[in-house]
Amino acid sequence: MTIHRSARLAIDGGEKVRTTPLPSSLHGIEEVGDEEIAAVTDVLRRKKMFRFLLTDEDSYTARFETAFKEYMGSRYALSVTGGTTALVTALVGLGVGTGDEVIVPAYTYIATAAAVLRVGAIPVIAEVDDTLTLDPNDFERKITPLTRCVIPVHMRGWPAQMDEIMDIARRYDIAVLEDVAQAVGGEYRGRKLGSIGQAGVFSFQHYKIITSGEGGMVITDDETVFRRAACKHDSAMSFWKKDDPWEPFAGVNARMCELRAAVGYVQFQRLSGILARTRALKKRIVSRISDAPGIELVRSADPEGDCGITLGLFLPSAEEAQRFSAALAAEGISNGTIYNKEIPDRHIYRYWDYVLNKWTSDRTGYPWAPQYYKGNVEYSPDMCPNSLGYLGRVVTVGLGQKWTEADADDVAAAINKVAHAYYGDQT
Ligand SMILES: Cc1ncc(COP(=O)(O)O)c(C=O)c1O
Repeated sequence: MTIHRSARLAIDGGEKVRTTPLPSSLHGIEEVGDEEIAAVTDVLRRKKMFRFLLTDEDSYTARFETAFKEYMGSRYALSVTGGTTALVTALVGLGVGTGDEVIVPAYTYIATAAAVLRVGAIPVIAEVDDTLTLDPNDFERKITPLTRCVIPVHMRGWPAQMDEIMDIARRYDIAVLEDVAQAVGGEYRGRKLGSIGQAGVFSFQHYKIITSGEGGMVITDDETVFRRAACKHDSAMSFWKKDDPWEPFAGVNARMCELRAAVGYVQFQRLSGILARTRALKKRIVSRISDAPGIELVRSADPEGDCGITLGLFLPSAEEAQRFSAALAAEGISNGTIYNKEIPDRHIYRYWDYVLNKWTSDRTGYPWAPQYYKGNVEYSPDMCPNSLGYLGRVVTVGLGQKWTEADADDVAAAINKVAHAYYGDQT
């Protein structure tokens, strides 16, 4: 492999490593083809979009749930209309509600915190560490007598540190809800992400590893959690399950319809293939950049379980991350930084305006007002300095399953070229 040790960087007028754009780094949506079209057509021809008009054998929704729970190794799966809905549904399933505190990482999509607020609970923001997932030490520090649940989030295919998190949660009797919206199919020490905590949630939105357009899933081994979640996702759940009486409470309809399930079910068959490919590509790049000076891989809680969809590199400082990112882009490698003060990225707590300002849709100030919440959570843009530090220093490259090995080699060559230009021969 050429390392371009002494080559002039493209950003300084040198030759680019790559002159054509890399293939897309989106996953499920890039796979949509004849099978999805046939499944959707089948639903339209049958004129039955409502799952309860069909037997479980005939319903795409039921088949999707069955296949999903078998793959995850969990007892129950419940499909819903989206990932945020899945979070709300699971939180209700777990019995989390008004006045409870729920610990969420500083780096996750704002939807994780929004779901906590939607059930009347209070998000407490904890640091992420050099895995860019929840820092177990800060999770423990943020626990109060009101803490009812913690939501580790497996960001960008990277598994969170589940052993440490589960151990702390057990000691304090806190429920663990895994947010696997960005890491379906990922694993931690041989177990599927989402199946380790008391419940796990997934998103099948357009940008996710598999997609149903919009959609989500809740998994759990706990029958009570499942039944409560099912009640939450359907205002008449006890009616549909007449032969097996459910203890009812008011839910809000969030059922997955057959059209979305048809796409989701087909996409689910593609999951293992997508991940096999992204994992192999990532390993190939990682093995080729192991000697590159000045950069450090984002630490992985389990490199074997990583989905392989994101390559993350730490640079020594935020300024150097910006410089490295620009140089890599000039070499023809699309990449990004995460926290750069220019883009208000809603995956960083600092930009969760309605959380930091305690804005609410309710005229009584619910859920923060003192008649509901007895704790003293406070927010500020600088409350998680470690997270901002890590997020500022990282450069990421998204990997797509349609890449060739030559594409991966170009990424590695460009990283090596830039790293050697900026950090080589510094002894
Ligand atoms: C980490 C995380 N949690 C939750 C969600 C919410 O999922 P959805 O967009 O399907 O509601 C997303 C999706 O964007 C996400 O990335």
